[in-house]
Amino acid sequence: MRPLKLGILGSGKGSNFLALANALREGTVPAEVVQVGSDQSKAGILESARGMGFPVFACRTGAFQTKLEPEIEEELANVLSQAGVELVVLAGYMRVLKTPLLRRFGGRIINIHPSLLPAFPGLKAWEQALRAGVKETGCTVHWVNEVVDGGDTIRQVKVPVQTGDTAESLHARIQTAEHRLLPEVVRDLAIGNIPWERDPRKLR
Ligand code: GRF
Repeated sequence: MRPLKLGILGSGKGSNFLALANALREGTVPAEVVQVGSDQSKAGILESARGMGFPVFACRTGAFQTKLEPEIEEELANVLSQAGVELVVLAGYMRVLKTPLLRRFGGRIINIHPSLLPAFPGLKAWEQALRAGVKETGCTVHWVNEVVDGGDTIRQVKVPVQTGDTAESLHARIQTAEHRLLPEVVRDLAIGNIPWERDPRKLR
């Protein structure tokens, strides 16, 4: 089976990227990272990716914090296309996706989010869960569309909230679950165990 070509985008430390890259190295996921990108040139994810020998790209930051200007997002989409990306994985990418990426890769973009969506979309979902006093939260991998954290859920893992949890302890427990979930979902998409919104194999 030809490996699925992945483009990973992140803005932060990149622990989910590392979990995925390690799973790929173990050979349990029939996929390969062909491009890593970020809107933050100093992000940990780029440093890790560079260290592991993957092609990296940092786009211009532009005038806004929450989104890229269309021409900058178009450049990012071009880089992913030229690398032959079939599935875009948002792993801590902090900008809202707009038309250039959605038009090019719609139905082939997934995101990992630290809550059981539709509960607690948006920023710092683990803090939202603590404030709400829920006994259980978790993480979700979902398809990405124009609604922030609003695309269809692919798979979720539940994580208990424990007495005495702080934001940090809860976030750490959720991240441990994320690091298992994301490689599992990528593997199941690659082997056809999860239906695609838009299957790249049909575009080949
Ligand atoms: C993760 O908690 C993910 O759910 C959220 O951003 C965080 C990224 O963490 N979307 P990392 O950069 O992968 O460590």
